[in-house]
Amino acid sequence: MELKEKISELTEAINTATIGNKEEQERFRIQFLGSKGAVKSLYELLKSVPNESKKEFGQLINDVRTKAEEKLQQAEEKFDNTLSSADTNLDLTRPGEALEIGARHPLSLVKNEILEIFKRIGYTVSEGPEIEDDWHNFSALNFPPDHPARDMQDTFFITKGDGTDPKSEMALRTHTSSVQVRVMESTQPPIRTVSPGRVYRNEAISARAHCFFHQVEGLYIDTDVSFADLKQTLLYFAQEFFGENATIRMRPSYFPFTEPSAEVDVSCTLCSGKGCNVCKYTGWLEIMGCGMVDPNVLEASGIDSKKYSGFAFGMGIERITQLKYRVTDLRLYSENDIRFLSQFKSAH
Ligand code: PHE
Repeated sequence: MELKEKISELTEAINTATIGNKEEQERFRIQFLGSKGAVKSLYELLKSVPNESKKEFGQLINDVRTKAEEKLQQAEEKFDNTLSSADTNLDLTRPGEALEIGARHPLSLVKNEILEIFKRIGYTVSEGPEIEDDWHNFSALNFPPDHPARDMQDTFFITKGDGTDPKSEMALRTHTSSVQVRVMESTQPPIRTVSPGRVYRNEAISARAHCFFHQVEGLYIDTDVSFADLKQTLLYFAQEFFGENATIRMRPSYFPFTEPSAEVDVSCTLCSGKGCNVCKYTGWLEIMGCGMVDPNVLEASGIDSKKYSGFAFGMGIERITQLKYRVTDLRLYSENDIRFLSQFKSAH
């Protein structure tokens, strides 16, 4: 057959070819433009054309190829973004797939619950810096200069002070009592505030200790605040958090910033006081420290200790969370293991 005829035949075939879907599009590509396709074989035939006609025929074959390429491109634009027949087996009655939602961290859940309980009786929430000066973390809280809690073993010091101004020495706060000093410095009583936040202590990391943990501390200052007010407030908290059957007891203790001071135990949430291995058969679980604010602390922050008195308390959120969710290894709280964290999804 004449090359000319072959060219017009192929042009005709390209023009009349129908491409109705992706499969046909691919078949078209292979048939006309593939490495063994029709256009390619025309170029093969070009070799036997006399030299003086090569240009003319070469041009004709180029035109055919362009035609085929254009047609293929149109098909690509049409079908590449649409579904192939295999994809069109859509089942529109199939239920949607639920999005994986995140879960709040157990420490946040418990922190929020504690804050809500105190907000209900008129407490505000106050926060302060994690990098704190010696004044707010220690000196204003009546820590004597040589108190062991300032020791390198407990505190992560950042800058050494000049030896005279306690505000020149910086450290990671060891408790959120520092925030309460800041509140007392900037507000006059009545003060009712709870201070949540992360605190740091230089301890070896184990199941029972960590170099950082979280606290909620509380402060109440007004005229005629008594130890009875403190006890009733903490009983209210214990019953709101652990259930109406919870009871508390107080044991004498020592903190530089409170006098008198006490440790607070709550009746064991597992055995209701009968004795089990969680409460080590005592029936009681230690949950916080508390006491009446030492007059020195009030005076250091500019509050008249003759006119006002107050109480303070502080609890570790990890400890309370441990009692609520029975998580016994402190390290789990900061390892970010999704298997641990996703267990709290239903706890919202
Ligand atoms: N600040 C104490 C601590 O970190 C807790 C506490 C707060 C004790 C207020 C008594 C009064 O251990």
